[in-house]
Amino acid sequence: MNNTLDLSTFLHDISNAFGGTSLILNQLINGVYGNSLEDIKPLLIAILSTNNRITSLLEAQKRSSNSNCLWEINSVKQFDMLTFLQKLYKECYPIAQSRSLALHYEHVPTYRYGTQVLGDVSSIWRMLHNLLQNAFNYTQSGNVFLRILNQSDDLVIEIEDTGVGIDPEEISTIFLPSWRSPNSSSLHPSGSGLGLYIAMMVAKAHGLKLAVDSVVGKGTKFTIIFPYRNDRIYGLDGSMLHESGRLQNALPV
Ligand SMILES: Nc1ncnc2c1ncn2[C@@H]1O[C@H](COP(=O)(O)OP(=O)(O)O)[C@@H](O)[C@H]1O
Ligand SMILES: [Mg+2]
Repeated sequence: MNNTLDLSTFLHDISNAFGGTSLILNQLINGVYGNSLEDIKPLLIAILSTNNRITSLLEAQKRSSNSNCLWEINSVKQFDMLTFLQKLYKECYPIAQSRSLALHYEHVPTYRYGTQVLGDVSSIWRMLHNLLQNAFNYTQSGNVFLRILNQSDDLVIEIEDTGVGIDPEEISTIFLPSWRSPNSSSLHPSGSGLGLYIAMMVAKAHGLKLAVDSVVGKGTKFTIIFPYRNDRIYGLDGSMLHESGRLQNALPV
């Protein structure tokens, strides 16, 4: 575990984010969403918000390089996961559309203990964005679902696709840094094998469970569980906030 890996994971997410904005800009230039300002405004807002996330990623990286940390939880705050997912959905919708995939955002009318979460917004965005990006990359046709629901008292986010699936023998290795299935290159040539590693780091850092369930040829579902806490705010708890911010012990390797 070293600074090279730290830099690689950072570059992975920066380049994905820039890829997303270039894609939307190309669609706008080609008139895919219409030509009036009103038509394209939601897309401009999505680009602006991706750019803001890139800026906060850069800031976070600068802070962790200065403090010589591999990974730091930065700017922890309380936020509403429903609103957050709605924004994520809007940002990812054009990417799904460019691959001719249908992206669905599903939520329920009420949540037993609400949808407030305490965490590092930009890290949680990295985790969910990487899982969605994989769903797009490894699905040739069909649907991608982004869901938020309750399982007993826990708050649960699911990202499910109708893609190629993962061989049962490979499930235990997918979170290792730089690991890619031998078939991945044909579907997604520019992959680096870091997306799931980042997602797992963020999940562990926040005390979340990240599980995967997959059937070859049918699809894959990643489940992120925010365990119920007595204070009724999901995500980080107070004691975790007092830790140094060095999260190497949380890494799965
Ligand atoms: N939704 C998915 N469907 C099928 N395979 C997946 C999915 N997500 C991840 N994988 C497999 O896990 C590997 C590691 O994923 P990731 O760490 O994001 O790296 P990358 O996408 O750059 O290869 C992928 O190469 C692919 O083989
Ligand atoms: Mg990936």
